[in-house]
Amino acid sequence: MALTALLVAVGMMYLWETQGSNAVTTVFVQKGKNLHLDVNKPVVLPKGEEFKWTYNNKHNLVRLRSGEEPRKSQEDSYKGRVEFSEQNHSLLLKNVQHNDSGDYTALITGDTNQPLAEYKVIIQDPVSPAQLSVNSVSNSTESCNLTVTCSTEDSLINSTFRCDTQTCNQEGGEQSKNTTSASSLRVYLFNGSIICNHSNQVSWTSNMTKIQHFCPLTAGTPGFTTVVIVIVIFIVFIIVIGILFFLVRQKNQQKRENSENATYQEINPSQTPNQTATEDASGLSPNSTYALVGIPAAPVRSTETVNTPKPESVYAQVT
Ligand SMILES: *[C@@H]1O[C@H](CO)[C@@H](O)[C@H](O)[C@H]1NC(C)=O
Ligand SMILES: *[C@@H]1O[C@H](CO)[C@@H](O)[C@H](O)[C@H]1NC(C)=O
Ligand SMILES: *[C@@H]1O[C@H](CO)[C@@H](O)[C@H](O)[C@H]1NC(C)=O
Ligand SMILES: *[C@@H]1O[C@H](CO)[C@@H](O)[C@H](O)[C@H]1NC(C)=O
Ligand SMILES: *[C@@H]1O[C@H](CO)[C@@H](O)[C@H](O)[C@H]1NC(C)=O
Ligand SMILES: *[C@@H]1O[C@H](CO)[C@@H](O)[C@H](O)[C@H]1NC(C)=O
Ligand SMILES: *[C@@H]1O[C@H](CO)[C@@H](O)[C@H](O)[C@H]1NC(C)=O
Ligand SMILES: *[C@@H]1O[C@H](CO)[C@@H](O)[C@H](O)[C@H]1NC(C)=O
Ligand SMILES: *[C@@H]1O[C@H](CO)[C@@H](O)[C@H](O)[C@H]1NC(C)=O
Repeated sequence: MALTALLVAVGMMYLWETQGSNAVTTVFVQKGKNLHLDVNKPVVLPKGEEFKWTYNNKHNLVRLRSGEEPRKSQEDSYKGRVEFSEQNHSLLLKNVQHNDSGDYTALITGDTNQPLAEYKVIIQDPVSPAQLSVNSVSNSTESCNLTVTCSTEDSLINSTFRCDTQTCNQEGGEQSKNTTSASSLRVYLFNGSIICNHSNQVSWTSNMTKIQHFCPLTAGTPGFTTVVIVIVIFIVFIIVIGILFFLVRQKNQQKRENSENATYQEINPSQTPNQTATEDASGLSPNSTYALVGIPAAPVRSTETVNTPKPESVYAQVT
């Protein structure tokens, strides 16, 4: 499972430098993990020629002749670290160290030198922890200003955040810096938290703090309270409308009960959808029927029932 995770990670780190047949793929691998390189095309090995994986065009990691067993490098620095798949000619170099960084090439040698795949491999250490500290807070009823330091051993960013009662903003937006060890340090505001993130191509660490811990009067998430208030007002509004509607209906009903049959009133609204169905279904009814009734055509319904027109009912309904 760990290997699968690594393979996925390595796969995601592929960066195509150039396009075309001689594309060199850059691969970043974390120190101590395994390097997995594929040929990604079928290998046809003519008799007398040799397939190999080379490192910096000097060291042969694996050599293969047709009809023979593959031969792995006998150099001390590669003993027990090289795996080779005869099926797809992929290379696995275990437990990589910094001095494994360099160019790896799969090629066929013989009458012609035919490169098959070329990789530029960069081994990186996992990044050190990101440190986030709050330097100063100035706090009033209307606003809150906060300065933080996001740092690693060899790099540092100071950043200021300003909040009013609604939102918080980072002065100058997200701040970032490249460190001397080819990693990147970033400090930014996300979801009401200040995040300090130290990352390179193989790993990241982060450290965060909720802005509300220091600026309690302000909403950490922009507009969050506003959204809640709007929703509450909306719900209250709907309830009030519902009550008013109910009261008016009841009043009307009481009035009509003296002269009309209450049962008729109750059935009448629920019949409207049935009317729609029969009117749409009528292939014989003229355009004027649609115009008169004023109901938009429902395409699904009309195709379902267009073969069973009921003209009598339409005329009955329209009149
Ligand atoms: C090639 O074979 C190796 C070992 O069987 C496997 O780990 C790797 O995923 C294969 N690569 C491709 C591209 O199929
Ligand atoms: C690469 O470094 C490792 C440990 O850092 C060492 O054991 C190994 O001998 C080195 N390999 C070469 C080719 O220098
Ligand atoms: C976050 O940064 C603080 C201040 O530098 C540090 O004390 C703490 O250990 C860090 N936390 C993590 C999880 O790295
Ligand atoms: C925060 O900074 C702004 C702009 O510099 C300033 O107007 C405001 O008074 C400051 N707020 C506090 C609480 O210091
Ligand atoms: C960052 O802030 C700290 C504390 O306020 C200060 O000592 C340091 O000089 C500042 N560094 C930079 C690069 O601004
Ligand atoms: C850091 O380096 C990358 C490329 O390595 C570059 O795209 C980016 O602009 C640099 N960022 C800063 C803040 O210098
Ligand atoms: C934002 O923060 C809230 C509470 O602090 C949390 O419940 C929510 O999952 C966070 N959202 C994201 C996208 O991280
Ligand atoms: C830190 O940055 C890395 C690289 O950009 C990213 O993959 C990771 O999700 C970030 N972590 C957090 C907590 O934002
Ligand atoms: C910020 O101000 C509020 C009231 O204005 C106070 O209750 C709170 O303790 C202050 N917080 C800090 C971190 O100074």
